[in-house]
Amino acid sequence: MKIVGGPGSEELAKKISELLNVSLVSTRTKRFPDGEFYFKFEEKISGEDLLVVQSLYPPQDIHALELFLILHTARDLGAESISVFIPYLAYSRQDKRYLEGECLSSGMIAEILEKLGVNALYTVDVHNRRVLEMYRIPAYNLTASRELAKYFAAKDLRDPIVISPDDEKDAIERAKNAAETLNADYDFLEKQRDRYTGEIVTYEKHIDVEGRDAVIIDDIISTGKTAANAVKILKKHGARRVFVGASHALLVGEAARLLNEAGVEEIAGTDSVMNKYAKVSVAPILVKKLKETQIL
Ligand code: R5P
Repeated sequence: MKIVGGPGSEELAKKISELLNVSLVSTRTKRFPDGEFYFKFEEKISGEDLLVVQSLYPPQDIHALELFLILHTARDLGAESISVFIPYLAYSRQDKRYLEGECLSSGMIAEILEKLGVNALYTVDVHNRRVLEMYRIPAYNLTASRELAKYFAAKDLRDPIVISPDDEKDAIERAKNAAETLNADYDFLEKQRDRYTGEIVTYEKHIDVEGRDAVIIDDIISTGKTAANAVKILKKHGARRVFVGASHALLVGEAARLLNEAGVEEIAGTDSVMNKYAKVSVAPILVKKLKETQIL
């Protein structure tokens, strides 16, 4: 197997190649003056099993087109097989038409990847697990919650408790995983989002956090409203410090300000999104999965 790093995930691809002790394919990219993307393999990839690594964090449309062009080239130049690691699988909100006339974005991404010859997809804490049912190829969802918990374990936590900021099954499962790693309790809050305005209401409930350190674990921080609401509630109930860990710390617009104003101690994300919050790598969880699925 050889690793191909897309422009959005070059460092992550390098980490994966080092952990697997396999080579990183040499490539060249540039942008034409009008902004169009150009990609070239600098070595022969015909007959190779490739793992293409490219996360689709914002600007997701640009990262998606880069990925499609890489896959198209790999397929055309005769790669034997193509696996793709897309830690942040953008366009995973619309697995069905929630309102009449809406697009099915996750279905479109699945169709394109399959059409471009992808044989297997690996992703991390996908926004909606049902999205993966749209694939006819093997599609694996990995979780970064344990890796995030390991990061917070080094923070000298006092009587920690892990909190899921909403009561969705997968969200609670992630909090449970993190709690196991930290040997801590876990609990969850309930929230509701208005489908039209995007406004979020988080319902207060009694959680025993007085004098304790709380770790909020979520899949995505987008506007930061979900996490900020949870931080506020936990601080109000006497939490000593509140950390927030997210598999995909997108932090768009005013998200970081909202979280800071709410009193967050620290925000940690993964290298699924390359920004200053990328403090944890998802490379080890992919490598573990590849070994389990005997791809290596
Ligand atoms: C909700 O379904 C997700 O698990 C996240 O809580 C949500 O996407 C976070 O979004 P925001 O940061 O905009 O509140």
